Amino acid sequence: MALADHVKSGFANLQQNCFHQHTIHVGHRFLITGGAGFIGSHTALGLMEQGHSLVILDNFDNSSPDALLRVEELANGSGSLELVEGDVRDADAMERAFQSNGPIDGVIHFAGLKAVGESVRDPLRYWDVNVNGSRVLAAAMERHGCKTLVFSSTSTVYGEPEIFPLREQTPTAPIHPYAQTKLAVEQMLSALGRNGAWRIASLRYFNPVGAHPSGRIGEDPLGIPNNLFPFITQVAAGRRDQLQIFGNDYPTPDGTGIRDYLHVMDLAEAHGMTLDHLLKQAGPTTLTLNIGTGHGLSVLEVVHGFERATGITIPYKVVPRRPGDVPKLEACPLKAKDTLGWTATRTLDDMCRDGWAWQQANPMGYRGE
Ligand code: NAD
Ligand code: UD1
Repeated sequence: MALADHVKSGFANLQQNCFHQHTIHVGHRFLITGGAGFIGSHTALGLMEQGHSLVILDNFDNSSPDALLRVEELANGSGSLELVEGDVRDADAMERAFQSNGPIDGVIHFAGLKAVGESVRDPLRYWDVNVNGSRVLAAAMERHGCKTLVFSSTSTVYGEPEIFPLREQTPTAPIHPYAQTKLAVEQMLSALGRNGAWRIASLRYFNPVGAHPSGRIGEDPLGIPNNLFPFITQVAAGRRDQLQIFGNDYPTPDGTGIRDYLHVMDLAEAHGMTLDHLLKQAGPTTLTLNIGTGHGLSVLEVVHGFERATGITIPYKVVPRRPGDVPKLEACPLKAKDTLGWTATRTLDDMCRDGWAWQQANPMGYRGE
């Protein structure tokens, strides 16, 4: 049966039939929570291309099974992928993930909620999914003797920093529940790391954008995008009339907010390199790393960069600042370079070209098929 037919014939079939259940191990066996999401799908593909076997635990709260079908298609027989559909807070689902087809060598924990505004409106949900979900995962890892973990943290744990470069030891000062829950998990993991032979890395991502160069997988926000980049690509596609620029009165050279945008493929590669690094450590390890380019760009620079890369004009109007936005976030990525040998290699042009290719090929995201 063709992959697309599996989707049409229902999710149960897809789980039983579509994802190969290889029993021969090439490389390692990793559990990826949230592996169907934006960053998770790109990372899963990279790991499969390296020959690793993956178990993906996802409840599709903010993603589609189609993303995994496409990951499998792009991996083209390299590595393998099994799906456990379930919630990270559900200890039984977690148990199924750990008991499927052999021991897990390491975990990347992407599953979680990431919308700042929603976290302000419903903080308990954020503490439950992000913090309690991480606790359920860590408890299962402990039970199964799997103590190698990469955790998705965020640059928003720095709050509204005034002093740059922003290094990992810069004091954290989260200003909304989303960032507070991510910092709480970092703290829970470092407490765990002090108690036993854990190898843990918390990666503080800056602003991942773009898509796989094939245009087959990418970011698929539901409804009106909150984030700058998908909003721009939807304006370019004619789905939205114009971009609203949230404030041009920030203390930055052109008055618009500065962020450190990095290509999602660079971010995906950072995860593979982090797992490699952790698996080589003989003793307990707890790491926190900024993952960004080190080169911040203003909203206007991104708009003009997109126009240059695609030849499409982006109409915009300046509106008041968005509550909760900070003037500038820009990584100092040197620790990631020293520790992992990782640096971002892709340019703004690459981010715009690949993000636009994804948008054009999938005007309605994964829901188009
Ligand atoms: P995403 O929403 O695309 O992916 C998250 C995945 O987790 C989705 O597939 C979703 O269905 C799944 N999920 C959500 N709740 C779940 C639950 N209770 N049980 C099982 N699965 C669940 O988000 P993303 O952009 O890929 O982000 C991945 C991680 O990186 C998140 O933890 C996010 O907080 C963090 N992060 C993202 C960014 C960013 O700009 N995208 C920046 C910093 C940190
Ligand atoms: C936002 C979240 C952050 C989260 C990240 C990924 C807020 C306050 N922050 O980061 O916690 O980790 O998304 O999900 O929501 N902008 C516009 N017009 C738009 C959209 C954005 O001008 O339509 C501006 C913003 O003011 C900001 C920049 O573009 O200066 C980047 O915004 P965005 O892509 O939402 O990222 P962050 O705000 O950094």
